[in-house]
Amino acid sequence: MAPVTIRPSSIDRVLAIEIVRVTERAAVAAARLRGRGVEKKSDQAAVDAMRRELARLPIDGTVVIGEGEMDEAPMLFIGEKVGTKFGPNVDIAVDPLEGTTLCAKNMPGAIATLAMADEGALLHAPDIYMDKIAIGPGYPRNLVDLDAPADKNILALAKAKGVKPEAITAMILDRPRHADLIAAVRKAGAAVSLITDGDVAGVIHTGDPDRTGIDIYLGIGGAPEGVLSAAALRCIGGQMQARLVIDTDEKRERATKMGIKDPRKKYQIEDMVRGDCLFAATGVTDGRMLHGVEFHKDTIWTETVVMRSTTGTVRWIRAEHRQLDKF
Ligand code: FBP
Repeated sequence: MAPVTIRPSSIDRVLAIEIVRVTERAAVAAARLRGRGVEKKSDQAAVDAMRRELARLPIDGTVVIGEGEMDEAPMLFIGEKVGTKFGPNVDIAVDPLEGTTLCAKNMPGAIATLAMADEGALLHAPDIYMDKIAIGPGYPRNLVDLDAPADKNILALAKAKGVKPEAITAMILDRPRHADLIAAVRKAGAAVSLITDGDVAGVIHTGDPDRTGIDIYLGIGGAPEGVLSAAALRCIGGQMQARLVIDTDEKRERATKMGIKDPRKKYQIEDMVRGDCLFAATGVTDGRMLHGVEFHKDTIWTETVVMRSTTGTVRWIRAEHRQLDKF
């Protein structure tokens, strides 16, 4: 069969549907091991499935955010080429299983996720921490600031939303490093919604506060996750600022190796995702954002959100899969 050729000019709308298969397959593979306490195995299953499906995509793709650098990750490593090569040159950011602990413990919020943009458009972020602040669409640019004290950001957001700080909810990863941040947000009057893992979804929650109840995301999480969530917010129109946490010479070297010139740079979304992008995530376990995979006798059900920045379209795709041998 002749390979499908996709117009090479930009991230094509056809790919917005094609990438759904990729995150679906990864999610199902991980979900088979849900609740088994096997973090590495479920991550590996998701990686294998995602890699297999990526190989079928009509793209000439390069993994820029992946499972690690070439010497530490045999699959979906940074720089790995993926796709049929008959299609546009694209950068790919993947997290085949975001929330490995959530999956291992069958707790809410594990997802399989991927972002795609034109070649050279995604920030090549090393696997280190990143400080993040994010809010949804409809606010003046830079209303909140990564470098401002938490109470100032909460008050600015409440004022712009036309509510008291008590009506604002911040989502933060539950980590000892965030103790002061959590205390400051609470002192400002806002509620804190703590998550044990999964800050890609955490940031995305700010994109639709009416549905999720989350107005602002704050705190330090993974840098690769930061780029993935920036891609999602680029599609739905929120704001995000971020900075790599480079506190050792070793991290500075890794960052330099990946092309980071200014280690103190405060990134806006446009610095992390320069141009149009696609983003997809499929639920592995049930979460606030997505239902997890359901295994039935003759079918497997998945739920995926897929977004395209060119149009801002967000599709929620609930799929019933019948050819179970494909999973
Ligand atoms: P993994 O799926 O790699 O375990 O990441 C889960 C996660 O919670 C991310 O969402 C977050 O960015 C990061 O870990 C935070 O790192 P740490 O657990 O070291 O605080």
